[in-house]
Amino acid sequence: MRLPSRVQRDRRLVDAALRRFLPRPGSVPVTVRRAMAYSLFPGGKRLRPILAIAACRALGGRVADVLPAGAAIEMIHTYSLIHDDLPALDNDDLRRGRATSHRVFGEAMAILAGDALLTHAFEIAASHPADERLAARKVLAIRLLARAAGVTGMIGGQVMDLEAEGRPYTYGTLLRIHRGKTGALISAAARIGGIMAGGRPADLRVLGAYGDHVGLAFQIIDDILDREGSTDRLGKTTGKDARARKATYPALLGVAESRRRASDAARLAERAIARLGRRGRPLAGLARFIVDRVS
Ligand code: IPE
Ligand code: IPE
Ligand code: MG
Ligand code: MG
Ligand code: MG
Repeated sequence: MRLPSRVQRDRRLVDAALRRFLPRPGSVPVTVRRAMAYSLFPGGKRLRPILAIAACRALGGRVADVLPAGAAIEMIHTYSLIHDDLPALDNDDLRRGRATSHRVFGEAMAILAGDALLTHAFEIAASHPADERLAARKVLAIRLLARAAGVTGMIGGQVMDLEAEGRPYTYGTLLRIHRGKTGALISAAARIGGIMAGGRPADLRVLGAYGDHVGLAFQIIDDILDREGSTDRLGKTTGKDARARKATYPALLGVAESRRRASDAARLAERAIARLGRRGRPLAGLARFIVDRVS
C-alpha cells in the first residue's frame, strides 16, 4: 500500500533527525556506533515517529519541536527489536531485511548496542530542542516515554510474552501482552506529539485513546502477518510465533476473527480522533493504513 506523500516526507525528516542525533563518529567506540547505525538504517516503517509528528501537527505544533522526541522513540523501538531478536528472547536471524544485530556483531555487542540506543534516546529527548520554554513539555514527554518503554509498558509486555510461551492463556492476558509490548510505545508516540505541541489535557486524552486502539490494531496485524505475510516483504522470518507457541490473536481466535478485531480497533481509533475534527484526519488515515498494511 502506498503511503500519502506527506508521510513519505515525514519519513525523510525522521531519517535526517536520526542521523543528526546519532553520537558523532570519534566520540564513542567505533563498533557500538556501527551496530547502532546498522539497526537504525535503512530502518523500517518509522511508524512511531510518523505518528508523533502527525499528532503534533494535529494540535497545531511545530514539527521541529517533536523531531528529537520522535527520533528518541524510534531509537527505543529499534533497541527493543535488537533485544527481541536475541537468542534468549525470540531468537531471530532476520530483521528489516538483514541479518539481526547479534548475527553480525555478536551477542554481547548487540546487547550493548541496544542499551546504547535506549540510554542515548533519553539524552536526546532531554537535550533537544534546547529552547528553555519547552523544558516543561520535555519533562512530561520524557516521563511518558520512560513509563511506556519500561516495566509498566513495553518491558512488562515482553516479560508476559515470554512467560506465556507454550502455556494456556486467557484473552485478558493476551490483551495485556499486546497493550504492553507494542501498544504502550505507540500510544506514547501519539501523546508525546501532542505534548510537544503544547496540547490541552482534553486533546492529549483523545490522542492517548486513539494511540491505545492503534497500538492494539498494530500488534494484531503483526500477529496475522507472522502467519500469512511474506518474509521478503516483511524483512523478518514468518511462522515463528506458532513454532514458539506464542500467545497471539490468530492462535487464540483464528485469522478471520483477528482481522475483525483489528478493524474494530482501527474504527475505535478513528472515532476517538474524530473529536479533533478536521485536524485529526491524517491520524485517521494512519489508523486505516495500519490495518491494511502488508509489511
Ligand atoms: C515490529 O515493529 C515489532 C513490533 C512491536 C510489532 P514494526 O513493524 O514497527 O517494525 P519496523 O520498525 O517497521 O521494522
Ligand atoms: C515485539 O513483538 C515487541 C517488541 C519488540 C517490544 P514481536 O516479537 O511480535 O515482534 P516481531 O514480530 O519479532 O517484529
Ligand atoms: Mg517478541
Ligand atoms: Mg519477535
Ligand atoms: Mg511478531
